[in-house]
This record gives sequence, C-alpha cells and structure tokens, in this order.
Amino acid sequence: MTHPCTPSPDSRGLAAPRRVAVALVHHPVRDRNEQEIAASVDWVDFFDAGRVTLVYGVNPLYVVHPVESQKALVERLITHGTKDDRTSETRGRFDHAVIVDSLDECLAHAEGVLGGRPLVVATTARRLGGQRPYAQVRASIDRGEPVLLLFGKASGLSDSVFERSDAVLEPLSGGTGFDHLPVRGAFAIVLDRLLASDRHPDALVAPGTSEGGQEHG
Ligand SMILES: C[S@@+](CC[C@H](N)C(=O)[O-])C[C@H]1O[C@@H](n2cnc3c(N)ncnc32)[C@H](O)[C@@H]1O
Repeated sequence: MTHPCTPSPDSRGLAAPRRVAVALVHHPVRDRNEQEIAASVDWVDFFDAGRVTLVYGVNPLYVVHPVESQKALVERLITHGTKDDRTSETRGRFDHAVIVDSLDECLAHAEGVLGGRPLVVATTARRLGGQRPYAQVRASIDRGEPVLLLFGKASGLSDSVFERSDAVLEPLSGGTGFDHLPVRGAFAIVLDRLLASDRHPDALVAPGTSEGGQEHG
C-alpha cells in the first residue's frame, strides 16, 4: 500500500511530479524579545495550511512541535478535520499532515517520503543577505528535486534554523518597508510563487502531446 505521505503522480498535466514538503515550525522560533521559544499551536494557521497545501499539491505538511500537549491538540484538529465529511472540502483534508518533535525528525521523515535529502529552504521577512530568488527555487522544483520549505511561528525562525538551512528565500515585499506578513499569508503567497501552474508553463504538457509552454518568470 502506498504511504499516505508519498507524493502522488501529478494529476494536473505537470510533466514532473513536484517533490515539495512544508513545515510549520513551532520550535525553535523567536519571540519579540529575540528569545528562543516554542510557540503555541494556532488552529487557524493549521487549517489554512492544510487547505493551501492541498491546492498546491504539497505533501507532507509537517507540524514541528516538541511539546506533547500541543502535539495532542494537532492530533485532535486532524481527527476533527478528517472525520467531518460535510466540511472536508472547505477545510481541507489532513491525511498529509505529519507531527514531528524536531527539525531533525522532520528532515529524516522528509528524506524518506520525498525520496532523497531535500533542499532545505527557510523563509523570513528579514533581509539577511545572500537570499535565494524565487526563480532559482522554482527551477529546483521543476527539475524534480526534493524541497522542504520552513515557515516560522511567533516572531519567526531562530537563527539556528537559518544556519542549518541550505537557502533562505528572498523576503516577500510590497515595497512599503514593512514586510512582516502573518505566517498563513506568507505561506499562501510563497507556495503560489513557487508552485502556481501559470508560473511553470514549461512543465505543462497538453494531454496526448509532449508540447510545453514558454517560461515567463
Ligand atoms: C509573523 S512572521 C515573522 C516575521 C518575522 N519578523 C521574520 O523574521 O520573518 C512568521 C513567519 O511568516 C513568514 N513570513 C512573514 N513575512 C514574510 C515575508 N515578507 N517573506 C517571507 N516569509 C515571511 C516566515 O516564515 C516567518 O517566520
């Protein structure tokens, strides 16, 4: 039987199945005093992440949390979202959600289900220098390389997470000088920039042909 987290062959006419996973990291993250903390689980973030990952074909959705009571809360949310047939389409399904204690466990699991060590890509509103443009990460995804995207709760990912990541994405910006999006807003925008089908026309294959489109982004 196929593991529920195994990325399925793409059903939208994309040439190469994407091997992309995401993690909502609750630890290690920073509070507003720059102290390292474990953030509490927010059910709205979790339900929205479940739905957004379904739209963009991202699998698994990791929830990284070391605290048992918070992990139990996520289990209850998964059960609630999965059992409720009436709302499953509007809230999303959660059989692709995986709860892990730590980033180490997340990486080990992702390596198994994505079929190779993923490129670990952190996100932040901050300008750290040397950040990776979206087009480069899209190119990795289009080549079928495994990618794990990290999103931080509270005031964002700890420096230790940036240090162990392979890349940090450029911050999203509206040019106002204030770039600090709520995590679920950033989550949806980043996935759209990396995975929206209209940004990957070369990967689109018309049924019964091998023709692709033009790259324009
Ligand atoms: C409340 S924000 C934290 C903002 C924080 N000051 C920071 O360093 O990113 C929580 C998370 O949303 C994501 N995020 C927020 N704004 C972003 C932006 N402009 N670009 C990319 N990711 C962003 C990041 O994953 C961040 O860890």
